[in-house]
Amino acid sequence: MGNIKLTDIVRGRRTILDYKPQKIDEKLLVDLFNDAAYAPNHHMKEPWRIRVYEEDSRSGFGEKIVDSYIRLGLLKTLDKEKLVKARKSYDRFFTTIPHHILFYMDKEDDGGHLDEENYAAVCAFIQNFQLLAWEKGIGTMWTAKETLRDEVFIHEIGLLPERHKLVAVVQAGYPNRVPKPRERTPLDDRVEWVRG
Ligand SMILES: Cc1cc2nc3c(=O)[nH]c(=O)nc-3n(C[C@H](O)[C@H](O)[C@H](O)COP(=O)(O)O)c2cc1C
Repeated sequence: MGNIKLTDIVRGRRTILDYKPQKIDEKLLVDLFNDAAYAPNHHMKEPWRIRVYEEDSRSGFGEKIVDSYIRLGLLKTLDKEKLVKARKSYDRFFTTIPHHILFYMDKEDDGGHLDEENYAAVCAFIQNFQLLAWEKGIGTMWTAKETLRDEVFIHEIGLLPERHKLVAVVQAGYPNRVPKPRERTPLDDRVEWVRG
């Protein structure tokens, strides 16, 4: 995908659900992170913290996520049998996608202005990462379920709810299938011009 225009990358990127098993080279991932770090961030806090779950860690990470869904009542409509099936299908999801990247940050004022600024900067980092990855033929999927605020889950992955805010889990790998474009609504009637 070399030499494509930024507009084409922004418009062409798709959320990828179906991935090839092939891992992304570690050096390439680190390069993408280093480039993504040119995201705007106030006071140069560079608040992003990154943890890549891959290989054997994926299954356990996925299990903890499903445990959290159950704890939070997100799967409460499923009977025992369906829950067993759902666990298997989540395990397949986590173990077939090569990388699950957790983005998080240190809290500074527990949900106050500084945390909002840092959260915004981490989101800017994530979108930079998604676009830079797309340029290299790599697909991603941004997820941010309630689990990210589940204190038990945060402890289970070795972080501290009072110190860390989880921002997203981004799946990454080479796409097996790229979904059709999803058009956006023209902005004409959503922009207000304020003059005078
Ligand atoms: C904060 C956030 C959370 C998201 N969570 C999910 C998710 O749980 N599952 C999913 O398939 N996509 C998720 N997405 C991706 C959106 O569904 C996707 O961007 C949207 O459908 C537009 O498709 P596109 O990214 O291919 O343009 C999320 C995106 C954001 C920014």
